[in-house]
Amino acid sequence: MTEQQIQDFIAAFPKARRHEPMAGHTLLKIGGPAQIYLAVETADDLIKAVATAKRLQISYYVFGGGSNLLVSDQGFDGAVIQSADHSFAIQGETVTAAAGALTSLVAQSAAKAGLAGFEWAAGIPGTIGGAVCGNSGCFGGEMKDAVISVEVYDVEKNERTTLKNEDCQFAYRDSRFKREPLIILKVVLKLNSGSAETSLQKIKETLKKRHETQPQGQFSAGCMFKNFEFQDESVLEKLKGQFEIPEAMLKNKKISAGWLIDQLGLKGTKIGQAQVSPAHGNFIVNLGGARAQDMITLSSLVKMKVRDELGILLEDEVQLLGF
Ligand code: EPU
Repeated sequence: MTEQQIQDFIAAFPKARRHEPMAGHTLLKIGGPAQIYLAVETADDLIKAVATAKRLQISYYVFGGGSNLLVSDQGFDGAVIQSADHSFAIQGETVTAAAGALTSLVAQSAAKAGLAGFEWAAGIPGTIGGAVCGNSGCFGGEMKDAVISVEVYDVEKNERTTLKNEDCQFAYRDSRFKREPLIILKVVLKLNSGSAETSLQKIKETLKKRHETQPQGQFSAGCMFKNFEFQDESVLEKLKGQFEIPEAMLKNKKISAGWLIDQLGLKGTKIGQAQVSPAHGNFIVNLGGARAQDMITLSSLVKMKVRDELGILLEDEVQLLGF
């Protein structure tokens, strides 16, 4: 980025900050500086910021909660634009949320309002925009089951438009928002009338399960890898030869990456201050002061071992920025 580009962007957005350490904005607590960092409070400002970056030919990254993000040690030579409108409203069975609304807060509030079907999201860190983009899910729930429509800014066409659920190309931890320049502005969810008491109890159980099976109180970006989806069991030949595959995984045609990593005895493996969590194999935690490079090296080591020993290629679930 040139100084002129930076000055032009800051002229349009005087609140934009320079050299903002991304370690302060990611749950992993890792990441060098963003050349420009801007938090915007409204959808109009989000559109304006993205359009300005595009006009000035500045690389940009629209950022939700930093919960599923690994930023390089060198940082990002562009503009990180944070969607900081956390508002949402519940009306009947419909929840309308700004992209920056916190997923866990929406889940808690929906449950308190007596709406069922979104309890699973109470332990999901980050924002609704991020959760829609990655089609987040856990314990049987997935964003795509609740989304009715998504209002976006289409960067190429320079227009605001609304996509229906079926236009979002939702798939396992995937959507078109991961591939196309569509900025999520607002999300409409449809839940079901239920009882607040039942939903709040369900949330309690979900959070308990999370506490029991996933690392707690440690810096992480959630699961590092997607679970391995297969169509045909012939790809599991090497794995079947060595381990007893749990029936549920065969039935769902998805092998848990954490389970695979665990079978290979990789839990606890450390590079620098990055460690494969002893609690769950699909989490790589920052023990304090880990570098992005440690995370990448450890993640590559895990992928290599799983490929060599089991013939399975793990795909990243975590988003990378600045590499
Ligand atoms: N398992 C092990 N060892 C491990 C990890 C898991 O044996 O180290 C076994 C478990 O005992 C269980 C099976 O593997 O029998 C599945 O484990 P788990 O229920 O933890 O689910 P997962 O498939 O590993 C997925 C999601 C999680 C989500 C959980 C709970 C992905 C990549 N991960 O994990 O999502 O919280 O289900 O529903 O889809 C995330 O996306 O960031 C994430 C953490």
